[in-house]
Amino acid sequence: DKGEYRHYMLKEIYEQPKVIKATMEGRITATRVLEQALGTDAENLLENVRHVQIIACGTSYHAGMVARYWIEDLAGVPCSVEVASEFRYRKHVIQPDTLFLCISQSGETADTLAALRQAKKAGFRAALAICNVPGSSLVRESDLVIMTQAGPEIGVASTKAFTTQLTALLIFTLALARHNGLNAEREADIVKAIHLLPGQVNDVLALDGEIEEMSKAFMDKNHSLFLGRGSQYPVAMEGALKLKEISYIHAEAYPAGELKHGPLALVDSEMPVVTVAPNNDLVEKLKSNLEEVRARGGELFVFADKAADVKPEEGLHVMQIPSVHEITAPIVYTVPLQLLSYHVAVLKGTDVDQPRNLAKSVTVE
Ligand code: M6R
Repeated sequence: DKGEYRHYMLKEIYEQPKVIKATMEGRITATRVLEQALGTDAENLLENVRHVQIIACGTSYHAGMVARYWIEDLAGVPCSVEVASEFRYRKHVIQPDTLFLCISQSGETADTLAALRQAKKAGFRAALAICNVPGSSLVRESDLVIMTQAGPEIGVASTKAFTTQLTALLIFTLALARHNGLNAEREADIVKAIHLLPGQVNDVLALDGEIEEMSKAFMDKNHSLFLGRGSQYPVAMEGALKLKEISYIHAEAYPAGELKHGPLALVDSEMPVVTVAPNNDLVEKLKSNLEEVRARGGELFVFADKAADVKPEEGLHVMQIPSVHEITAPIVYTVPLQLLSYHVAVLKGTDVDQPRNLAKSVTVE
């Protein structure tokens, strides 16, 4: 039931504070991760993991891309991420003591399941699933399961599944990191930041009206560019996927540093450029990327931390996002991009919940 909402997608975007909270509940205390809550075997299975191989498709793949930044940063464990349809059809090497991590909302995505079944033959230490559907094939075939508590997701464009996947992945990363020397102080710092997420996502939802205003600038455009750096690069990818899926506007995501290696040639006044820029140590670099776009007449839409001091100017629209912890920033910054694509799609009059040519669950190749 959509209740008061016009579309399931909007309802699901607004459910995020609640479902993110449900996904952390019982798995963290005020300051630590409860490893036993990830499964009775978790402690044993996470000990001696030397490599993490993440496999997923679409939005779930983007969650995996964010997790790679976390896993290498916090746990210091090498991590590879690949889309399932590529992994399953190439000759791949599984390193010793690999944790094979599949991410899937439905748990029934054909390529992801095929990749898992293949990898089983090659051997790995353990298979971990991050999944939203209890009893799904993925859940049944994995050694360790962290359920996202998003509840049923009806809109084809994935929203709350993504932010709950990220929440679960961050909690998992902290557990893995504890086996690899993460100190209690840093763990506490990040766990406290996780507790702040529902409130912060609520604060971003309060920007809905402003984002709706902003969306008008995209209505008659055919192309757009999304930029991000570090763990915000996959957030840019996810923002671009949302926009193309439901508004049918061509959207491409680039790591901001790649701009001058090609895509800058495309930038003109017909190409809106969306950038996610939290206040981390990459923000200065990002600012110079923004200058490159502005110098070419491109119109910029920047979602920035208040503290990042990006000032609005002619052709530079700034949406200020409340200050958040650098590690949890990808979760918070996803939300304004969801709202942006939603409003562009509504303005264009597309079938938001059932975009053309797409199915909710891709159970065949
Ligand atoms: O159920 P899964 O998470 O395995 O699905 C993967 C993709 O099919 C899915 O994320 C798809 O990309 C969404 N429509 C994105 O919004």
